[in-house]
Formats: sequence, structure tokens, C-alpha cells
Amino acid sequence: MRFDVITLFPEQFRILSREGVVARALSRGIAELRLWNPRDFAPGPHRRVDDRPYGGGPGMVMLFEPLAAAIAAARAASPKSQVAYLSPQGTRLDQDAINDIAAKPGWILLAGRYEGIDERLLERCIDQEWSIGDYVLSGGELPAMVVMDAAIRLLPGALGHERSAYEDSHMSGLLDCPHFSRPEEIDGLRVPKVLLSGDHGAIARWRRQQALGRTWLKRPDLLAKMTLDQATTLDQATTLDQEARQLLRDFIQARQSVAPDSGEIDQ
Ligand SMILES: C[S@@+](CC[C@H](N)C(=O)[O-])C[C@H]1O[C@@H](n2cnc3c(N)ncnc32)[C@H](O)[C@@H]1O
Repeated sequence: MRFDVITLFPEQFRILSREGVVARALSRGIAELRLWNPRDFAPGPHRRVDDRPYGGGPGMVMLFEPLAAAIAAARAASPKSQVAYLSPQGTRLDQDAINDIAAKPGWILLAGRYEGIDERLLERCIDQEWSIGDYVLSGGELPAMVVMDAAIRLLPGALGHERSAYEDSHMSGLLDCPHFSRPEEIDGLRVPKVLLSGDHGAIARWRRQQALGRTWLKRPDLLAKMTLDQATTLDQATTLDQEARQLLRDFIQARQSVAPDSGEIDQ
């Protein structure tokens, strides 16, 4: 998978190739990154990339021409890629969107700065507009890195364990189960017995129940969105709906015996 990023601050992306999952994927050729600075495409001795907005007002606007030229160069180098502008006005990304992004051969990501970019560039050169959340950052570089990290970690070979991405929160519509490591006891808090039992079936059921239960506790909106009739991870059987409902009922019942007002599931 290939990313071409149009940015006035290419240095910021160095962090991606230093350490971690993305750095490893880049060094192994699982993902490729090329950076394009619109300043290199700006004419004149000052290589101007921004100017004041028509109509007045604060801030500067990124100019059409250097951006269009940088995008054209990136398109020529990466003809299978679509162009996405990172913007607080874009479609808000979630895990499903990231899965779709990771399934494509490449993306040209445009990182904005200042007040934003000349609107005509959006009309002429942009295929998609993506937001990483309903808040405003000072530049599109961090959002571009967020998208790259989230997509690259899904690529085959990027993570140490092939399946680990599929067990993460949001991949199945649920949150992940809790995790524990050594020591077995910390300050009176013990690791759940089942995890020490060596019974892989029981451990898998417990993890599934915890994933359902903590989604119900922390993000009931996610549970409401999913139909428990659907298989919710790659290899789950169609009997899952029954099992999931029962596991969740048991979780809630166990909780209610400790805290009686902790709620009900609808069905
Ligand atoms: C200060 S912002 C411009 C905001 C713009 N005036 C607006 O209100 O829509 C500068 C750049 O940061 C990036 N940016 C800011 N917030 C973002 C978000 N939530 N998601 C993606 N990109 C964002 C965009 O590339 C944007 O062009």
C-alpha cells in the first residue's frame, strides 16, 4: 500500500519511520510513503503557498496552484491512488472507513494548514474529504498520520500476530476484552481465574463475554447499532447470536447481583 502526502511540513512525518508498527511496515516494504511539499511547486523566488482570503478576515488560505501541481505530480507517480483531503468538515472516520481505506492500493493525502485551502481545489482535485473527529487541529499532518497508522497496522505482515488487529476494539463492532499480565496479584487485585486455567474454550468464552459486557457498560451505542445476529468476527459461526445474547445476559445478571440498578438488555 502506498501513501503520498502533500504537506508543508514533511519533517513531521519522520516520526513515522523511527519506531513502531508503521516504521517496521515501511522498512519491510509493506507500506510506502512519499512526501510532496507544495512549496517545491510554487513559482517565484519566494515560493509562496498561501495568501490572504478574498473578503477579508483572519488567517491565510493555501493557494490553488502549488497544491494542484503537487497533487498532479503525486497522481503521476501513483496512478492508482485517490486523493483525500484531511479536514474537520469531512466524513468522520471510524473503523469501517479505515478498513475500506486499507483495502485500497494507495492514497494521496492532502494536509491543510492555516484557515484551510482554496475551495476550488476541493472541487477540482479532491475525491474524498475525511475528518478524524469533531474538533479542529492546526494542520492536517497529525490526521494524515492517524489515518496511515490505523490503515497500515491492518496490512498483512504489519503486526507481529496476524490476528491481533481483528481482536481489537471496533473491528467486530465491540470493544476489546480486558488484558492482564504478570504478576498474578497487584495490590489485592487478582487475575481472573479462568485466564490461568489453560482451558482455551472457557478463556475464549470469557473474553467474548467481557467484550460484550464492557461494550454494554462503556459504549451501549455500539451494541445498539449491531445486530447480534451477525457473525461479529472473521471466523465466528452463525450460532453466535444465541451465544452472544446469553453471554451478555449472564454478564448483566452477575453485575446486577453486585449493583442492582445496572440496567437491562432490550431483547
Ligand atoms: C485550522 S484547520 C482549518 C479549519 C477550517 N478553517 C475549518 O474550520 O473548517 C487547518 C487544517 O487542519 C486540518 N484539520 C483540522 N482539524 C481536522 C480534523 N478534525 N480532521 C482532519 N483534518 C483536520 C485540515 O487539513 C485543515 O485544513
